[in-house]
Amino acid sequence: MTTQPAPAAADGRKTPEPVPALALRGAGLGFGDRTLWSGLDLTVHPGEFIAVLGPNGSGKSSLLKVLLGLQPLSHGEAEVTGRAVRTGNDRVGYIPQQKMIDPGTTVRGRDLVGFGLDGHRFGVGLRGRRRRREKVDAALAEVGAGAYADRPMGVLSGGEQQRLRVAQALCGDPAVLLCDEPLLSLDLANQQTVARLIDHRRHEAGTAVLFVTHEVNPILPMVDRVLYIVDGRFAVGTPDEVLTTEVLTDLYRTPVDVLRVHGRVIVVGATDAPLDPHCQASPMAPDGRPGADADGPAAAGRTAALR
Ligand SMILES: Nc1ncnc2c1ncn2[C@@H]1O[C@H](COP(=O)(O)OP(=O)(O)O)[C@@H](O)[C@H]1O
Ligand SMILES: [Mg+2]
Repeated sequence: MTTQPAPAAADGRKTPEPVPALALRGAGLGFGDRTLWSGLDLTVHPGEFIAVLGPNGSGKSSLLKVLLGLQPLSHGEAEVTGRAVRTGNDRVGYIPQQKMIDPGTTVRGRDLVGFGLDGHRFGVGLRGRRRRREKVDAALAEVGAGAYADRPMGVLSGGEQQRLRVAQALCGDPAVLLCDEPLLSLDLANQQTVARLIDHRRHEAGTAVLFVTHEVNPILPMVDRVLYIVDGRFAVGTPDEVLTTEVLTDLYRTPVDVLRVHGRVIVVGATDAPLDPHCQASPMAPDGRPGADADGPAAAGRTAALR
């Protein structure tokens, strides 16, 4: 048997490394005396799905703002597709939290999705307009929103509005999709729909996904790696590496138990850990008020879950 050297090795050249979708090097962010996180090195490859977890105020949204070019780092570097972050980068798509749009809003879903193409150049005249319309139609079809795309946004349900936000973010074919708690306040069925749409796109188009969430369980099967930030400390790794009693106890600096129940991750005992609204052991505030909210001080010491 003869062996031939690989062509790339024959002339001594190496195959170039693929450009990462996202890269953070020695990244740190602080406000005043407070450091949210520092020394963050993270390279995200095309098609990777990263869940960003951590209690409120740990700096998850701020990380997305950095990558959107809206918030300068205190230290280090942040790049999208090999270039320094900047605002208005059409390689970056963004899906915000679900929040209901004012019922009086007359902007149509189709218009909202079209805003996702602002900054893209399709040329002038009829041909440019046609290409733009085709892009919008394709994005609407991808999320199954064609039937209500011409209705005013204000009359649509929360799930329908959120599908349109997904379509808007995907419309410009971003290399990177930044999602800031996009499932919040959606029912389980809509959570799954939105999560699957995002998962489908990253498989089809190699879009890298950074997905901030309080609820890891709806996306757990999709997650390649987790970035878990707590009070300035963080851990990066696969869900099995990071979502463990040992790692979270270390991050929270308090005893935490991570349970796996029917494939779901349940975190017990973390101070201000994300709360599973479907799994509240006793959602009582310290003063006995029921219905403590996930942002409030009542989170300390409770049973919490990452869904
Ligand atoms: N521009 C800013 N100036 C000062 N503090 C800020 C600014 N932006 C965010 N913060 C603070 O940084 C912390 C982290 O915020 P955020 O990134 O929104 O957290 P998370 O999304 O994890 O809940 C919060 O305490 C917030 O008040
Ligand atoms: Mg946030």
